[in-house]
Amino acid sequence: MIQIQVPATSANLGSGFDALGLALTLYNRVWMEEYDGILISSRDAVPIPTDASNLIFWAASRLYEECGRKMPGLRIIQENHIPMASGLGSSSACIVAGLLGANRLLGSPLGKSDLIHLAAKIEGHPDNTTPAISGGLVASAVEGERVYSISVPVSEKIRFAVFHPPFELKTEQARSVLPRQYSREDVVYNLSRSALMIASLFSGETENLRVAVQDKVHQPYRLGLIPDAETVFRLTYELGSLGTYISGAGPTIIAMIDSEVEASFAAQAMPHLESRGVRGWDLWILQTDSQGAVISLGTPME
Ligand code: HSE
Repeated sequence: MIQIQVPATSANLGSGFDALGLALTLYNRVWMEEYDGILISSRDAVPIPTDASNLIFWAASRLYEECGRKMPGLRIIQENHIPMASGLGSSSACIVAGLLGANRLLGSPLGKSDLIHLAAKIEGHPDNTTPAISGGLVASAVEGERVYSISVPVSEKIRFAVFHPPFELKTEQARSVLPRQYSREDVVYNLSRSALMIASLFSGETENLRVAVQDKVHQPYRLGLIPDAETVFRLTYELGSLGTYISGAGPTIIAMIDSEVEASFAAQAMPHLESRGVRGWDLWILQTDSQGAVISLGTPME
């Protein structure tokens, strides 16, 4: 079997709506081989579709189709660590696993840039799929059928404190509350901040991040869909966040922190949240993944 490891991703980073994203050190693993039929199972308790509607299977079949090949059927084993419908790129991880796995099964007919285009086309926007493939901090732009992207490393001193709530939010719902049009002032507000974000994360100019996360395109409209979001935002800044934003379409909230405050931030955050009546959230302190999806040969360890 082949094994595909795909990182979680955090899109938008506040101001870079549908354009910026980064890969995080939290991974799903998928094992795949050609099979006479469809045999899909999970190594954990996460419920997954086990028929042709499974997103990994569906993406793999799209790749076979794209290459003009008939897919015989697949055996897929999933190990899920990226929570679903949480703003951490779980559907992109499935799409990327299906595409990269199928591409390898066919002898790698498509190159990395073809896979980046196809993944973005399936997902509808490139800001999660591209970092899931490339790793690092990624700026992407879609022109016609093509994705133009660049991946750069994030300064070593930045950590991502991921606040994951005990409820889901579907991307379609989070997109449905956004306006159809924006003023020129709001567009300039976001453009300037997203440019500041990518340069500041790359260079480590962390004092810019508090301004760079601000946006007028999606977060003000989505905050009301996330119970306790304002309490979480306020607490992160009290504990030293450099910049806090809704990850992707939410509901996960991420605070960027200096590695030097990681231990004290981690120790204080949950007790403080609980004392303010916010319960059931998880906190993970992650770093940027710089590799992106990795394919190797192997079977799941028992
Ligand atoms: N950029 C997307 C959004 C990410 O904010 O709706 C969700 O996949």
